[in-house]
Amino acid sequence: EQHRLIDETLAEFKLTHEQLLQVKKRMRTEMEAGLKKKKNGDFLALDLGGTNFRVLLVKIRSGKRRTVEMHNKIYAIPIEVMQGTGEELFDHIVTCISDFLDYMGIKGARLPLGFTFSFPCKQTSLDAGILLNWTKGFKATDCEGEDVVYLLREGIKRREEFDLDVVAVVNDTVGTMMTCAYEDPNCEIGLIVGTGSNACYMEEMRNIEMVDGEQGRMCVNMEWGAFGDNGCLDDIRTIYDKAVDDYSLNAGKQRYEKMISGMYLGEIVRNILIDFTKRGFLFRGQISETLKTRHIFETKFLSQIESDRLALLQVRTILQQLGLNSTCDDSIIVKTVCGAVSRRAAQLCGAGMAAVVDKIRENRGLEHLEITVGVDGTLYKLHPHFSRIMHQTVKDLAPKCDVTFLLSEDGSGKGAALITAVGCRLRDAEQ
Ligand code: BG6
Ligand code: GLC
Repeated sequence: EQHRLIDETLAEFKLTHEQLLQVKKRMRTEMEAGLKKKKNGDFLALDLGGTNFRVLLVKIRSGKRRTVEMHNKIYAIPIEVMQGTGEELFDHIVTCISDFLDYMGIKGARLPLGFTFSFPCKQTSLDAGILLNWTKGFKATDCEGEDVVYLLREGIKRREEFDLDVVAVVNDTVGTMMTCAYEDPNCEIGLIVGTGSNACYMEEMRNIEMVDGEQGRMCVNMEWGAFGDNGCLDDIRTIYDKAVDDYSLNAGKQRYEKMISGMYLGEIVRNILIDFTKRGFLFRGQISETLKTRHIFETKFLSQIESDRLALLQVRTILQQLGLNSTCDDSIIVKTVCGAVSRRAAQLCGAGMAAVVDKIRENRGLEHLEITVGVDGTLYKLHPHFSRIMHQTVKDLAPKCDVTFLLSEDGSGKGAALITAVGCRLRDAEQ
């Protein structure tokens, strides 16, 4: 009897070949699911601070090859919202997200979100960034000194319509570096030359006093636009740079940026043209209302005016479109002024980049460094000479570095989504 009971009990331990095959199959299914969990996912990204405000859906899929599929929509931010209250700004952002979720038909899901926020922040964790000060065209109240992720989460709560999991906040330079690093692992620098200008790069932990730890590297957002705010560039700033600075939303700040980036170059040109007109060199000495209008020379106009394929007659047509009647001589002078201003911008930017690559080379104790810079921004992309002059300057000033510039085709939203994916994975691992 005892025997029978023992056998009966142990019989349950006997597995047939069929059963074992089943187990094998199930294990395989779980393995696939486990792998998928890590790599697959839908992520939202916001991209705020460049010419366009964008909301993106980034789908990361693992198969034989990992694929990234992106959908995005551009939304306008009216100037009164950029310069209104913080609550209005974030309500507007949340309204755009809401529209996008409807448009994509994904309002039900609580998706993870990466926030590309292209302003100087004190980043206290992956999902917390305190806005130090607005730059470029933004001036919304009650945001400086606040955590922008908190402001975004509060905006989402106020709307009471959908929920999102804000995982990461990243600067556009960092998003761009990550986007490009996806194609080229040698990409350890991010550069933006657009409305504003800034760079980030991989620095050795041992050199970062603010952060404990000696091992490995960390990405540093340089906020190089603020270079010169202590006066160290004053000897090369002209009266025109000072005039542009004085009339900006943030006088005295971002002095290097104001000599380089798209939001300001046209203004420098305009100030020179006004001065030349006063001195009788241009427009028969007549300062038109148009010439007094701020921000008429957008990046796209400067780029067109300097295009080599353009005959002078066409330069005159562009000036005409802007409301400036010019003679042939006028158009030659205007083109020369644009060239001088953009050349200096490209060279200054190149000098900054030369410092970065040489520092990285020295950090690693190398005689020769090969490195890739991920780049984005309308000035870099549209201007006919900026990139060439900037590259040449880097070559001249950092001859021991072999620098490749890789244009970001996907903006920085893709990079923000990739960072968010990693953030989610780390968080899951901790739990
Ligand atoms: C975009 C990036 O492509 O370039 C943004 O996605 C970035 O994050 C922008 O701010 C910079 O360029 P611009 O000219 O639009 O300011
Ligand atoms: C401004 C911002 C900076 C951003 C750059 C390019 O300089 O302060 O954060 O990276 O513009 O958009």
